[in-house]
Amino acid sequence: MINRETIDKIMDTARIEEVVGDFVHLKKRGTSLIGNCPFHGEKTPSFHVSVTKGIYKCFGCGKGGDSVRFIMEHEKYSYPEALKFLAQKYNIEVEETVETVQDLEAQNAKESLYIVSQFAATFFEEQLWNNSEGKAIGLSYFKERGFREDIIKKFNLGYSPDVWDALTQDAVKNKHAEEYLEKTGLSIRNDKGKLYDRFRGRVMFPIHNFTGRVIGFGGRTLKTDKNVPKYVNSPESEIYHKSNVLYGLFHAKKAIRDLDNCYLVEGYADVLSVHQAYIENVVASSGTSLTIEQIRLIGRFTQNVTILYDGDAAGIKASLRGLDMILEEGLNVKVVSFPAGDDPDSYMHKVGAGAFKTYIEDNRQDFILYKANILLAEAGTDPIKRAGIIRDIVESIAKIPDNIKASVFIRECSSLLQIEERVLLSELNTMRAAKFKKASAPQARYQQQHPDMPPADLLADEEPQVITAVAANDELQEQEIVRLLLAFGHELVSWDKIDNMYIGSFIMQNLTDVTFENALCKKIIDHYRIEIENGQLPTANQFIKSEDRDIADLAITLSTSPYSLSENWYNKHNIYVRDETVNLKATILGGLYHLKKRKVDRILLDLLKEIKTENDATNQEILMQRYAFIKNVEKEISRFLGSVIVK
Ligand code: UTP
Ligand code: MN
Repeated sequence: MINRETIDKIMDTARIEEVVGDFVHLKKRGTSLIGNCPFHGEKTPSFHVSVTKGIYKCFGCGKGGDSVRFIMEHEKYSYPEALKFLAQKYNIEVEETVETVQDLEAQNAKESLYIVSQFAATFFEEQLWNNSEGKAIGLSYFKERGFREDIIKKFNLGYSPDVWDALTQDAVKNKHAEEYLEKTGLSIRNDKGKLYDRFRGRVMFPIHNFTGRVIGFGGRTLKTDKNVPKYVNSPESEIYHKSNVLYGLFHAKKAIRDLDNCYLVEGYADVLSVHQAYIENVVASSGTSLTIEQIRLIGRFTQNVTILYDGDAAGIKASLRGLDMILEEGLNVKVVSFPAGDDPDSYMHKVGAGAFKTYIEDNRQDFILYKANILLAEAGTDPIKRAGIIRDIVESIAKIPDNIKASVFIRECSSLLQIEERVLLSELNTMRAAKFKKASAPQARYQQQHPDMPPADLLADEEPQVITAVAANDELQEQEIVRLLLAFGHELVSWDKIDNMYIGSFIMQNLTDVTFENALCKKIIDHYRIEIENGQLPTANQFIKSEDRDIADLAITLSTSPYSLSENWYNKHNIYVRDETVNLKATILGGLYHLKKRKVDRILLDLLKEIKTENDATNQEILMQRYAFIKNVEKEISRFLGSVIVK
């Protein structure tokens, strides 16, 4: 187990905005940072990061937590794995107490796959630079293709000898278990039960995940024989899921974020060449046609994608449809196409780095207009073909979630296609309506479960689409009390008769006659009370970091409540929020008395029911008296609320 001190050190060091920022493109909005949630597909950001509280919260899917929680969710790591990941990021030495054999085994299984992959990468690299076969065949191949040494080194390119089991033997000699060699696909077992190398006589491209660990390989043959597959790739494994990986992302992510654009190419060689032209924000989908996961991966770093295309017309037409998927994810798509017969790699080596960069900058086109132009050229003057194009283009435009952007494209296409804007618009609306019907509504579902939250699209500064419902029990009022405790419990106040008292104690004193119904709120309140009775004032962090996931989740939700996260939204919609920090007394008393009024109202309702069903006259009389008494209390509370609380 990792010891407490180490955990505390990691918690203190791992700033939430840095940890999340490695994976999510965050923008400042108001007091918090926001971005597109990495845990569910979304086009408008509802993922909030509070720097001061050290936590994140998505108002779309509800996920929230601290830095460690984020890494656990995001990387599918266990708690200790996440801690170690952060320790590595911040160069913190991890001190561990002894673990059980079982603990070690579970953690090490996946880790072992990483380790053996890294071993193989180092082995291949070693072969390329220091082995005579590697140098003569592998290194000279790369050099002949014009790759500079710094690029070959940067991407850890290597060479696998043309031998039956060179890597396997070396790995086993270095005490790597056969099991992991097989699981990563580096070695294959033949019918006779002997292990041999998957990659033989090939130049090697290690594939890194975006935190920089080697997870797989592509191996390119050096033969021109058409019967030999050009690339052999690692199979899927526990650490390598092809559809989630973009080749080059680890080396590109910083530049992608800095330049707010991502170049997308097809192959390993293209990534290297574009890098060599000092353009570092480039990734490749590597063989698989672009997947939705890959698009979302890009979307975490930037909203702008520029596709660098081969210059062959067939390839372009085939991929046009795939690109609609990018539009659908809300990303802006631009296209650069190269002269016929060239891909980014060959063109870069043909014209040189400087000219290549200029070419890309000068030949960037918006995808929709690019598509319109290609289809138009192809259709010529054939009226029927032209009509087909209109549908095709409008279909792409209909995928763009942003209305303003879509209407700009409609206007441009109207002039390009020589069709009235009105006609295109009506086509667009028909398609949109059909699409809207199909769309599921996970957000509306979330809204039903969390009626206290403004819908995510409101938080994202957009027009309201879901109207918040009112809860039928006291949960909201109870949660408000918990929220006030977490937010203001440590403030010292002096009001009227009370002198220098912590708000936490004040609230608890005023709750002695109140029973909490919501189980989770009750747990928190009970815990708070016990702590206070023991002379401790609990902190919000205690609950946010609670081992009880439900408590932590609620504490996080309440700590990132709309009051602090979306002041802008309230202002924009002209909703007056009492400034709770300015008139703290009104806020606290308001919260307490709203809860009390709620409880009293319930009692009154129950009493009424009892009176109605009670047949005995004396009993009825007693109940009526109680009712009158409590009704008075209720009136007092109401008057108090009316006078103190600015509504
Ligand atoms: P390319 O044929 O364009 O490869 O395929 P490339 O990387 O540009 O290689 P060079 O320039 O011929 O050396 C694009 C990508 O498709 C995958 C690889 O990921 C490659 O980078 N691919 C291609 C395979 O997985 N297997 C193949 O047999 C061919
Ligand atoms: Mn190529």
